[in-house]
Amino acid sequence: MKGVILAGGLGTRLLPMTRVTNKHLLPVYDRPMICYPIQQLVTSGIEDILVVTGGDSAGDFLKLLGNGEAFRLKSLSYAYQDGEGGIAQALSLARDFSAGEPLVVLLGDNVFQDSISEAIELYSQGGGAMILLKEVDDPERFGVAVLESGRLVEIVEKPETPPSRFAVTGCYFFDFRVFEIIDGLEPSSRGELEITDVNNRYIEWGEMRHHVLNGWWTDAGTIPSLFRASELVGEDRDNPVLNGISMGPDDWSRHASE
Ligand code: G1P
Repeated sequence: MKGVILAGGLGTRLLPMTRVTNKHLLPVYDRPMICYPIQQLVTSGIEDILVVTGGDSAGDFLKLLGNGEAFRLKSLSYAYQDGEGGIAQALSLARDFSAGEPLVVLLGDNVFQDSISEAIELYSQGGGAMILLKEVDDPERFGVAVLESGRLVEIVEKPETPPSRFAVTGCYFFDFRVFEIIDGLEPSSRGELEITDVNNRYIEWGEMRHHVLNGWWTDAGTIPSLFRASELVGEDRDNPVLNGISMGPDDWSRHASE
């Protein structure tokens, strides 16, 4: 299985910081946000990662992450998303990278307390698609699961009246058919190709599974959630998923010069 991290977007909810850099390069506790999804994938055994980004700061990802050696990755690749086509459009750039293999896709502004290795194992037993849900107090900020007797029947994107408290987190598992689905998508009212439309197609096919997370999960895409993410990470310093790759100045400069 290969990993894709989606790190594009305008980051308008984090202005004015995002006037001068990409949202995913902003700090969460002691390191740039993009390091968390990378550490998550690395500690879950994923060795090949594609980072999809865009905008004026795309070169800074290369400066920070290089060829992925500091993370002990086999390969770290990059793709550039032109314009603001949405999450599903960004994912379409991973078609050649996937080369028919299943993908675990992480949104670059999502931080998970627990390892997703168990979810990877679960997904591998079935195929199709799988999403991770988390019960939250503010589901209206997210894609929300409609559950009927525990069965996932639909996902509604940012509903005014949430049908449940289960948010769809930014961790998705897809087989190669995800690219056929994206090819057939129409832009939403905000002019983007929506990942929720992709997920709903798998639900229609009866090929979507879901798994509910125990540990905490947060996005870091708004001012309060960015602040919260730093607090949560700072309270959990012994967690290898968050802190497994040492990034003190000495380690980092050693990796950079190796
Ligand atoms: C996106 C997805 C949404 C998901 C969320 C998780 O929203 O569209 O379904 O719940 O990520 O972080 P965004 O944060 O891009 O508005």
